[in-house]
Amino acid sequence: MGSMAAAQKPHAVCIPYPAQGHLNPMLKLAKLLHHKGFHITFVNTDFNHGRLLRSRGPTSLDGLPDFRFESIPDGLLPSDPDATQDIPSICKYTPKHSLAPFCDLISKLNDGSFSGVPPVTCIVSDGVMSFTLAAAKQFGLPEVFFWTTSACGLLAYAHYCSLIEKGLTPLKDMSDVTNGYLETTIDWVPGMKDMRLRDFPSFIRTTDPDDIMLNYLKTETQVLHKASALILNTFDVLEQDALDALLAHHPKIYTLGPLHLALHQIQDERLKSIGSNLWKEDATCIDWLDTKEPNSVVYVNFGSITVMTAEQLTEFAWGLANSKKHFLWVIRPDIVAGDSAMIPPEFVTETEGRGMLASWCPQEQVLGHPAVGGFLTHSGWNSSIESISCGVPVICWPFFAEQQTNCRYSCVEWGIGMEIDNDVKRDEVEMMVRELMEGEKGKVMRENALEWKRNAVEAAGPGGAAQLNLDKLVTDVLLAQK
Ligand code: UDX
Repeated sequence: MGSMAAAQKPHAVCIPYPAQGHLNPMLKLAKLLHHKGFHITFVNTDFNHGRLLRSRGPTSLDGLPDFRFESIPDGLLPSDPDATQDIPSICKYTPKHSLAPFCDLISKLNDGSFSGVPPVTCIVSDGVMSFTLAAAKQFGLPEVFFWTTSACGLLAYAHYCSLIEKGLTPLKDMSDVTNGYLETTIDWVPGMKDMRLRDFPSFIRTTDPDDIMLNYLKTETQVLHKASALILNTFDVLEQDALDALLAHHPKIYTLGPLHLALHQIQDERLKSIGSNLWKEDATCIDWLDTKEPNSVVYVNFGSITVMTAEQLTEFAWGLANSKKHFLWVIRPDIVAGDSAMIPPEFVTETEGRGMLASWCPQEQVLGHPAVGGFLTHSGWNSSIESISCGVPVICWPFFAEQQTNCRYSCVEWGIGMEIDNDVKRDEVEMMVRELMEGEKGKVMRENALEWKRNAVEAAGPGGAAQLNLDKLVTDVLLAQK
């Protein structure tokens, strides 16, 4: 389809939820669709559009003639232009403020305002941006949802309703978070076993029945069936039970993951140069890793949203220092709530030559580097699947959203992880890092991770499920006449 004339090309409008962990996988999906012959319009918020221009350079969003970027307002009040926006505010304001500009954009794409752009033929929306369904309806377009979580994470969110009905959330009192209440066994969710209340996505940890996040995720999972299909960035053998349970209610699910591996099959330098990192990458990490022995470095990164206290940062620092292992630690400038991250100067001296600090790195490359032997992570889904794809075992310190569920699956179902207590202490960090890098348990976890890697590579490789499912999605849904 590559040589198809512009006017005949199908045209997918891709709209991610405006946060790093959603932007990255949506861009990958958009590239795969472009490779299948689609004209792509990728819609960022004005805020993220500005950030990308700053982090990646003024020409970075020029795109290609048939892969273009547009931006729309998000309705949020101004905030630090280089830091993560407040997630509850995005959920509260974006659906209200972005729908009209989104519809205006589709009208313009259709009415010839942009030369060489074929009419829009489908919408690919983040699953937690369901307000876009109204646009699909207005323009008579098929819309598919891309849930950027794990299948188990989505399944857990989909049971928020039942947890509320059973009176398990909202909590009676915030002391329930620490008094053992969250250890309650939840054995009635089809497709999930060995779950405790605390393994459900973190938004249940509220006493407020009107809590924005609890209600937002509850409603977003209730409209899943309104999309023509559902895309997940996972592969079947990893989450078969969770997928089967989802399939019982949502027959059109397309597992296209791991997306970044699927993308490796495409040799298109123009596409490769289009990136989505909101922070400027420090590529010297790779040079540093090149000087290290295989499996000798623990990589530490808590993703794009996690915030911690200054005390927690200090405990991680001394735990790493005391482990005596090599480490690459990525510390976002906004990682400490309300403060700039302060690393103890003695820590820097103590770990000189053994540790490297950076503020943002090319994570896929880092995880794929032979020197990296373990990953201390917040268990965001992208980080989890990227780690699995590289056969790297994990220590999990889940922060929020469905990271708690990913952590549980990493530790219990997949056998690739150990969880660290939220009230992190340096001795525990030291002990776990040693276990991960040189202990018996670490060895077993690494073997399991390598087995999952083999499965991931097979799923995303030539003739694998990811390719077959993408083809099916294109022909059965995206190109199907309404
Ligand atoms: C989170 C999680 O996706 C998800 O669990 C939840 O729904 C809300 O958002 P985030 O904290 O961004 O997102 O974590 P993650 O899903 O791991 O995504 C981070 C992405 O940024 C990954 O693709 C990772 O490769 C990339 N990254 C991160 C870098 O490229 N460099 C870095 O230094 C850090």
